[in-house]
Amino acid sequence: MSHGSTLREAVDDDLDELVALWSHYVREHRFNPAYNRVARTGFVSRRAAFARNIGDENATVYVLVRKDGGLDGMITCRMEENHPYFLPPRFARIQTPFVRPDARRKGNLKRLLTAAYRWAREWEFMEVRLFIGADNVLANAIAEELGFDAVEVVRRKAVDWGIR
Ligand SMILES: CC(C)(COP(=O)(O)OP(=O)(O)OC[C@H]1O[C@@H](n2cnc3c(N)ncnc32)[C@H](O)[C@@H]1OP(=O)(O)O)[C@@H](O)C(=O)NCCC(=O)NCCS
Repeated sequence: MSHGSTLREAVDDDLDELVALWSHYVREHRFNPAYNRVARTGFVSRRAAFARNIGDENATVYVLVRKDGGLDGMITCRMEENHPYFLPPRFARIQTPFVRPDARRKGNLKRLLTAAYRWAREWEFMEVRLFIGADNVLANAIAEELGFDAVEVVRRKAVDWGIR
């Protein structure tokens, strides 16, 4: 099947496009209070985080590159240490999978995940973990379908300053 894009590991030259994709990602999460309040310097620090993931041997970023050089999608994989009292000692964290709206429903997430799983095997991880907003009904349904079990829910409550 021809996808119209090539999958490869991201390089520093992709940083501007990665941040552009991330801004779309944040916009799509605009109703989730955990992801929608970007700090004043948020885009600068997110760019630095992408750069670290590209440069760090314990992480990688995969991108789908169109013929015109633009990116259709991205996924980040990084090694994460577990709590010292739980097993496995470390797992592969899959972060910010994103496919541009006009490239969706063409198997692009599956391509990105296939690369992520290969990376996890190369680094001999026993487990991959994916964090998804609780309100992201579609992504949660897709994750379930692709074999990710939900194991934890993060709940949020604003502190009430009106009571003593
Ligand atoms: C979630 C997302 C990455 C899916 O990307 P995609 O390239 O469209 O996904 P794929 O084409 O590889 O689809 C994989 C499977 O997911 C399911 N799926 C994808 N989009 C779907 C939709 N709109 N409705 C129902 N099922 C859907 C299908 O089962 C599909 O497999 P199939 O096409 O063989 O039936 C994309 O919609 C996106 O970027 N969303 C915004 C960011 C986001 O929510 N990221 C995940 C949260 S961390």
